[in-house]
Amino acid sequence: MSAIIDPAIVNKVEELRESLHRHNYRYYVLDDPEISDAEYDRMMQELIKLEAAWPELVSPDSPTARVGAPPLARFDTVAHSIPMLSLENSFSDENIIAFDERIRKHLAAGENILYTAEPKLDGLAVELVYEDGKMVTAATRGDGLSGELITTNVRTIQSVPLILQNSRRHAIPPYLEVRGEVFIGHDGFSRLNAERLDQNLSPFANPRNAAAGSLRQLDSTITAGRPLEIFFYGVGSVTGLSVDSHWDLLQALKNLGFRINPLIQPRLTIHRVLDLYRELSEKRYSLPYEIDGMVIKVDRLLYQQQLGSTSRSPRWAIAYKFEAVQATTIVDGIEVQVGRTGTLTPVARLQPVQIGGVTVSRATLHNEDEIRKKDIRIGDTVLVQRAGDVIPEVVKVIETKRSGIEEIFKMPSICPVCGAAVIREEGEVAVRCVNAECPAQIKERIRHFAAKGAFDIDGMGDKLIDQMVDKGLLTSYADIFQLDKNTIEDLERMGSKSAQNLIDAIENSRQITFGRFLYALGIRYAGEHVAGILADSFDHLDNLSQASRSDLEAIDGIGPTVAASVERFFQQPENRETVSRLLKRGVIIKYETGSKGELLKGK
Ligand code: IVH
Repeated sequence: MSAIIDPAIVNKVEELRESLHRHNYRYYVLDDPEISDAEYDRMMQELIKLEAAWPELVSPDSPTARVGAPPLARFDTVAHSIPMLSLENSFSDENIIAFDERIRKHLAAGENILYTAEPKLDGLAVELVYEDGKMVTAATRGDGLSGELITTNVRTIQSVPLILQNSRRHAIPPYLEVRGEVFIGHDGFSRLNAERLDQNLSPFANPRNAAAGSLRQLDSTITAGRPLEIFFYGVGSVTGLSVDSHWDLLQALKNLGFRINPLIQPRLTIHRVLDLYRELSEKRYSLPYEIDGMVIKVDRLLYQQQLGSTSRSPRWAIAYKFEAVQATTIVDGIEVQVGRTGTLTPVARLQPVQIGGVTVSRATLHNEDEIRKKDIRIGDTVLVQRAGDVIPEVVKVIETKRSGIEEIFKMPSICPVCGAAVIREEGEVAVRCVNAECPAQIKERIRHFAAKGAFDIDGMGDKLIDQMVDKGLLTSYADIFQLDKNTIEDLERMGSKSAQNLIDAIENSRQITFGRFLYALGIRYAGEHVAGILADSFDHLDNLSQASRSDLEAIDGIGPTVAASVERFFQQPENRETVSRLLKRGVIIKYETGSKGELLKGK
């Protein structure tokens, strides 16, 4: 067949392919292009035209193969010749030091074990097979033993070499299995999601999901349109490549045309590795792609061989994960919660995201000013942070990910729960529902009253409180002490046993210290600490309830805001009524004898 093609055309096609492969390599691997994008495109167009005119010349290694191929019915499975293991995870310096000690003991190699440190990319592991310098197959990691054949999809990734480079230093290995991580960078991710929104498709929650979804398309022309990238970090089985360290292996791969992460650092002592870990975790959020830790590998291949692997992971490598305190996700909506004192708090409803082993799906937005200041809109991609047990919060909006259809949030002018008017007091950032009977406020006050640190009523959970308020069984916390077993038994998810347990718990809570009692009342600005000071300063509730603002302000640790709030609380007839009902229904305040608050005694 090819006899009828003019050799000049065959030559031209080969020349174009060779140039395009080389320029691809300069661009993606060396990050040092020699020609403009326009020139590259012109050559590509010329090649596409020639291949269309002479279909006999079409080849899977041609740079034109990156546009994808007709869809598959399903993916075939292939066994990996050497299992693709995972890595042991570690979260502390001690773990890493122990890893190093384990290795030295195993090898009896004295003190000088050197390591290579690599960023741990958060994507998907793949294995590519090259025969005589041509990519023949590509597979996912799968279960580690076998994966899915995604050859045509992987060919569409621009930074994957379809043909290897013949370098002076490294002859092309006859057989090479090379492994790497496929991912989508931040820019690609935001472009992809903007496009999806344009087409009324739901955006991907994070770059990893986007990469996984893109790689596993049966129609590789779809994959071709996705901004997938790859970094290579290792090999499976190889013939004809002689290197004796991991670093040299990476250099050889780079010379052959594989993209290697430029942040990889060679031959480090374990202490240097720990320093680098800190540097990398600081750099983390300024990188153009997501990383979730550092991979530490014994550099000498002979040592790697001697150390071997367990069934799960190699003994010569370990992942030092970053403490995941921040993650990016999308704000699906903004809801407004009404708190104990009527404060309306906007809360972001997030696409669930893992942060440090916890799924986060909500984050507080504090108040309207905060939303304006951070310019958080519905649909925005945001950086969310979780610190210890604190409620997760939105750190900032990733503005580059905006598509323009995000919605600006407006605080409601009426309470979303009871419909009463909301006010914003002078000098305050918070908007509040003025209706003290607002069910949302009642529920929150009861939750606070029954919580640890207050009456600590076991079994008075959120769902139960919601039900009891919604059914009108509780209109204030004073009603708790008149609940009877029969009423409780009739509630959803309650039986005779659980009803009795709750009655017992309520009974047991009746006797309470003065400080806890005051805290339980939920007086604005009177948290546990302030309640404790007040209990120490007054020998009886009656005295406290009659104290004036100036009496209160005279107490060490009580400022004007707290003093005004306490005075206001006890001046309000409804509050006096509630407190007297509590006492009438059998709550017994235990006054600590010998309290230091002699100052206002008898007042
Ligand atoms: S080495 C047997 N190097 O992490 C050695 N893995 O938890 C395993 N990964 O499945 C691979 N960056 O998907 C290695 N520089 C890197 C990596 C890396 C990301 C992923 C890879 C692997 C997983 C192991």
